[in-house]
Amino acid sequence: MNDPMIIVGATGAIGSALARRLAAAGQSLHLIARDGAALAPLAGSLGASFQVADVLDDAALQSAVAAAGPRVAGLAYCVGSIVMKPLKRASVADFADAYALNVIGAARAVAAAEAGLRAADGSVVLFSSVAAQAGFPNHTVIGAAKAGVEGLSVALAAELAPVRVNCIAPSLTRSKIAAPMTENQAMAKAIAAQHPIARLGEPDDTAALAEFLLSGQAGWITGQVIGVDGGRSRLRSKG
Ligand SMILES: NC(=O)c1ccc[n+]([C@@H]2O[C@H](COP(=O)([O-])OP(=O)(O)OC[C@H]3O[C@@H](n4cnc5c(N)ncnc54)[C@H](OP(=O)(O)O)[C@@H]3O)[C@@H](O)[C@H]2O)c1
Repeated sequence: MNDPMIIVGATGAIGSALARRLAAAGQSLHLIARDGAALAPLAGSLGASFQVADVLDDAALQSAVAAAGPRVAGLAYCVGSIVMKPLKRASVADFADAYALNVIGAARAVAAAEAGLRAADGSVVLFSSVAAQAGFPNHTVIGAAKAGVEGLSVALAAELAPVRVNCIAPSLTRSKIAAPMTENQAMAKAIAAQHPIARLGEPDDTAALAEFLLSGQAGWITGQVIGVDGGRSRLRSKG
């Protein structure tokens, strides 16, 4: 049995796509999510160990990560939120909640796994957003939190080396948090057209890069923020 990789937020669209890819490649897995009714069958179908935890409950998160064992080959923190509202409606709690979920949760998950990651020369993948480096209206809350994830990623990469830490910045990808936009046909079409590769993201677009970054094939890649965004962060679309 190989050393396990931990996926926090394993029941999400990207987390579950990553879990399926890694399991198909023979990687042993320890899955963490807050919804036990969704997590148990997923873990069962992949032969993975699992533990239920809400990442905002730090004690539960620490114990769920520790349950992976003393050696950890990788950790992907696939938990996150999309908060869209104008600044005038964004409360102190909105900013604090987004920071707690996206930044502090990621930092605490990695802290819980640090010894195991060091023991196994492991790798970490965190998730920011295209909205961390490109400005969009109504994105102050999530843009600020996801920029925090990018800062956290480079700081962790420096502190934990040779454990590798990288960050993926997706654009709009079909998932539960994106459903209010992706399931509105007119909105989905308009947003797709903002991408030089004119479609929305699929969870596997992002999971494929996460799988690569967690693998030994990415053994000299650390401290990077990489977009999976149809070119939206760097290019003008023709449309
Ligand atoms: N989808 C996009 O358009 C998009 C764009 C930019 C960045 N991202 C980032 O990509 C990552 C993966 O998201 P996704 O696209 O896969 O969305 P998703 O399917 O909605 O997954 C998000 C996951 O976060 C989990 N979660 C939320 N709060 C939690 C908590 N307090 N404790 C434990 N788990 C919690 C959710 O659990 P439940 O299933 O129980 O709700 C869900 O499984 C996130 O960091 C997200 O911010 C996504």
